Amino acid sequence: MYKAILQKYEPVNSNLMFILHDIQDNHPQNYIPEDATREISEYMGIPESHIYGVITFYSMFSTKPRGKHIIRLCESPPCWLRGSEAILDTLESLLDVRAGGTTKDGMFTLELCACLGVCGNAPVVMIDEDVFGDLTPAGITGIINSLREEK
Ligand code: FES
Repeated sequence: MYKAILQKYEPVNSNLMFILHDIQDNHPQNYIPEDATREISEYMGIPESHIYGVITFYSMFSTKPRGKHIIRLCESPPCWLRGSEAILDTLESLLDVRAGGTTKDGMFTLELCACLGVCGNAPVVMIDEDVFGDLTPAGITGIINSLREEK
């Protein structure tokens, strides 16, 4: 099932991260299923437990189905001091989901994360590959609404 992705890479350890990203990015539910871990293990000749360890070590990977868009809100102190709690309240209310959850329509998963490295623009949210800083409740509402319109 993942053969087309796997064959793009030499079966060497240094390609494991690229393979994991590729599989997750191409899965409609934005995660790495167990059968993918099994196929990677067979292809690369490394134990499934090692691959699972890598997946669970990095917060950008998931072993559970997620939404089309992944919203990661920074909850580290500089962002918290500059209003990330209000952004979280706004997101939970807009999406009708708690942190860690996925919206009923499968459009968004809301996650909390540690510092995204742009503290000067706190509070900060990363949505898929894009970073948004200096957020206000109105600002994040506009961003979510425009993503909904893209449907
Ligand atoms: S503390 Fe939030 S981006 Fe650094």
